Amino acid sequence: MVSGNKAEKYPGSTAAPMADGEAWDLVRAESGILAASEPVMEPTLRLITHARTNAELLGGILASRLALARIDEQSLATILSGIFDADPDILIAAEADLRAVRERDPACPGLMHVLMNLKGFQALQTHRAAHRLWLDGRKEMANWLSNLASLVFGPDIHPAARIGSAVMLDHGSGIVVGETTVIEDQVSILQNVTLGGTGKETGDRHPKIRRGVMIGAGAKILGNIEVGAYSKVAAGSVVLKPVPPRTTVAGVPATVVRIHRVDEVPAAEMDQTIV
Ligand SMILES: CC(C)(COP(=O)(O)OP(=O)(O)OC[C@H]1O[C@@H](n2cnc3c(N)ncnc32)[C@H](O)[C@@H]1OP(=O)(O)O)[C@@H](O)C(=O)NCCC(=O)NCCS
Repeated sequence: MVSGNKAEKYPGSTAAPMADGEAWDLVRAESGILAASEPVMEPTLRLITHARTNAELLGGILASRLALARIDEQSLATILSGIFDADPDILIAAEADLRAVRERDPACPGLMHVLMNLKGFQALQTHRAAHRLWLDGRKEMANWLSNLASLVFGPDIHPAARIGSAVMLDHGSGIVVGETTVIEDQVSILQNVTLGGTGKETGDRHPKIRRGVMIGAGAKILGNIEVGAYSKVAAGSVVLKPVPPRTTVAGVPATVVRIHRVDEVPAAEMDQTIV
């Protein structure tokens, strides 16, 4: 085991000093408390609480994540369906998402296809459950579910992020949504989009995406800035300033390239060609 002063090993670290091994002890203590309050997570947490060494602890956790969930499928199904039963608004939003994907994705043969095969849809519904847990104060459970969804489906969505209905995460792969992000209704987001912070702000630091926006593949929208209703962000753009409503922005950094006609709804039409 490597020992020594942490400040020497990680120059520039501002964390409060801890004795060697103390962090692992804290991890064990926190896990014991969580296992008692969330019994369904106990089999996973046993990898921590029952580990004989810190190496066994770390190796066990990494292996369990890489091998995916340790929770049995029926328990997970019971938790998720319990959340959906208790919060009917989630099912209403999910239904609007199903219809939105069917209407917007030209490659979509039907609603069951969306439910069974589209990982963007599946990730969004798992996020809705994680967000409910987050609002109910079950934050560790919410984080755990969110991490699992990210490993399995691709999109990495913070459980605190607020997402409206009739939203499409097309393809899903590589999408990152930060903690204080807001995504309103009728938005379409393509693969590899980041809705993130600049790294210079704290607190409310993530984008606010208004109704009917379409965000093209690979776009990065950074900071607590607003993308106005019914606007488009071109593929590959880096957006650092607010975008007015009904506007297309493109480039690095993004600038306005077009003002829309009033009848255009970019997200709903997934229209990438109209002039
Ligand atoms: C931005 C987009 C939606 C078109 O929107 P639009 O409002 O119809 O814009 P236009 O096609 O009129 O283009 C306006 C200008 O922006 C430029 N532009 C368009 N997309 C751009 C991009 N991604 N990067 C840089 N410039 C871009 C155009 O060349 C045009 O420039 P010009 O006026 O000098 O000719 C489309 O180009 C786009 O990026 N779609 C995303 C598609 C996607 O993610 N596909 C992945 C599928 S898997």
